[in-house]
Amino acid sequence: MPVSARVHVLPADLADKIAAGEVVERPASALKELVENAIDAGAGRVEVALEGGGADLLNVLDDGSGIHPEDLPLVVVRHATSKLRSEKDLEDVRTLGFRGEALASLAAVARLEIRSRRAEDAVGQRLRVGPGQAPVVEPCGMPVGTQVSVRSLFAQVPARRKFLRSKATETAACVETMLRVALGHPGVAMRLSSDGRVLVDLPAGDLAARVSAVFERRGHPAPDPAEDEVDGTAVRVFVVPPDRLRRGRGLMYVVVRGRVVEDRSLHGAVRSALAPFVPEGAGAVAAVYVDPPPGAVDVNVHPQKTEVRFADPQAVLHAVRTVLARLVARRSVGMGAPSSPNAAAPVVRAETMLRAAERDGVAPRYRLATKALSPEGARTRRDTAATVSGLLEGPSRRAGERPSKRAGAAARPGGGSGAPAWIDAGRLGARVALFVRNERLYVVDLPVLRTHLVERRLLAELAGGSVASQGLLLPVVVEASAAEVRQVEAVRAELARLGFEIDVFGEDALAVRAVPAAAGPWDEVAVRRAVARLAAWARLAAADRADLAVASSEVAASTDPGEVGAKTIRAWLDEAGADEDGARVPGVHVYEARDLLGRKGGSP
Ligand SMILES: Nc1ncnc2c1ncn2[C@@H]1O[C@H](COP(=O)(O)OP(=O)(O)OP(=O)(O)O)[C@@H](O)[C@H]1O
Ligand SMILES: [Mg+2]
Repeated sequence: MPVSARVHVLPADLADKIAAGEVVERPASALKELVENAIDAGAGRVEVALEGGGADLLNVLDDGSGIHPEDLPLVVVRHATSKLRSEKDLEDVRTLGFRGEALASLAAVARLEIRSRRAEDAVGQRLRVGPGQAPVVEPCGMPVGTQVSVRSLFAQVPARRKFLRSKATETAACVETMLRVALGHPGVAMRLSSDGRVLVDLPAGDLAARVSAVFERRGHPAPDPAEDEVDGTAVRVFVVPPDRLRRGRGLMYVVVRGRVVEDRSLHGAVRSALAPFVPEGAGAVAAVYVDPPPGAVDVNVHPQKTEVRFADPQAVLHAVRTVLARLVARRSVGMGAPSSPNAAAPVVRAETMLRAAERDGVAPRYRLATKALSPEGARTRRDTAATVSGLLEGPSRRAGERPSKRAGAAARPGGGSGAPAWIDAGRLGARVALFVRNERLYVVDLPVLRTHLVERRLLAELAGGSVASQGLLLPVVVEASAAEVRQVEAVRAELARLGFEIDVFGEDALAVRAVPAAAGPWDEVAVRRAVARLAAWARLAAADRADLAVASSEVAASTDPGEVGAKTIRAWLDEAGADEDGARVPGVHVYEARDLLGRKGGSP
């Protein structure tokens, strides 16, 4: 972290490459910028004081590196930063700030006072500046560190001031922002008071302690931790187990490189994966930390830096889903669940999941797929989870991937290192694959199997609320008749639940901006196919449309995997549970040796 780097104004061409937009909307956004600056300066503690919900006074004090006295007038200049030098740095930003915008934006809408002192300076310096005012710098007393005071936010911009909410609401937003920043930086002690009352007080500590403290501050019990890694993406999960969940709304944070980010696909994936953990009437409470390999995250996509872009979003989603699937599997068999007093509850969990499915009106299909109704069904579900997790951690594990920490994994039937492998026995044209396992021949109709799996994934996600969506880099514009435009418009809410974001684009076209992540890969052809199928579905009577199962199968049939390799097919076969119940999996035909001989010779 370049805590001692000097401040300089970015060259115009580099400044132009930075996601620009409104930086300060309300006290909480100012607070976020100032606290992040303190953290970038290597602070060990940050103290925030508010008056009037932060609109009258927002004061942030840190014990970080301080600012070079000669740099002080520069920090309020637009595009002046110590954190970025070249375009290359933009590819792997390690600091929370990088645009050189925050203090300049604040100085334009409030009276700003910055006091700062470095360890090597005898005295501090104070800078005062305000809207339309030239900065004034003079010496002052100051401990090592920086203090920024923002007074009368938007006093000169009545139109903006009018949009501020009540003091209580703005204070609550500041508390939430403080907690969000705190989640990414457990090593920094953080305190917030409002009109003298302490509202947040978090000591420095380890991540688990910090997450627990934040959950507690939000009225939730402490979570259980779990961590794992898939193809270089580390995932740490903190989730409140079902027996400790309180009724009411859930709480979900996704943290990437120290930032709490808003990412619909990631949130959706987490929510649906955790659905089995969530009893009726409650929402999931979890914090998920995702750490992809260096260079794989672009933070320069959103003016408020609350979004990130992954070089390979599918890989990140896959890692998160896999780790959560392992976690679910582990808990379902009552193993390795830290501090779980009721490990004997797999059946309850399966039923809970089913209730969630029923609540969402997708139960009939879902029940069919998982057989989770009876205790026997619960066993099947459990075994499937074990198989999936066994596969993920079994003999096919790649060299270099960390071995399972679970000693018991290998002992389970169908999973672990003792399980037989799917032996690739060749292809019949592009559509049919042959695999051998346990002296049985599996003839796999690839498009049928894949459509079945995609449909099942969509239904499982729907059971958790809605399907995670994935934004398209460029919207796909699809021509449509006026009637089709109206029909699609009428089912926008349902389409959103399915993970589609489709806008009307003029009178005779639709713009597709996001698609369900679980159904990919998406190309333009698949998007067009899906729109055509969904337009037909939208024409159904409302009652026939109520169950999104039909729409899910339309979506599943729209995408096409292209050429798939043996590794993918093996994963599909395992996901479908083909080993245990191959005859019942759509697209899979199972033959024993005697079936084949009987057919050929006409007699056994
Ligand atoms: N609390 C602080 N301690 C030390 N230096 C600071 C502090 N706050 C700001 N600075 C200095 O002022 C510069 C400008 O801060 P500002 O927040 O405007 O931009 P930034 O953090 O570089 O980028 P961004 O606009 O993305 O936040 C920083 O680059 C840093 O050098
Ligand atoms: Mg900053």
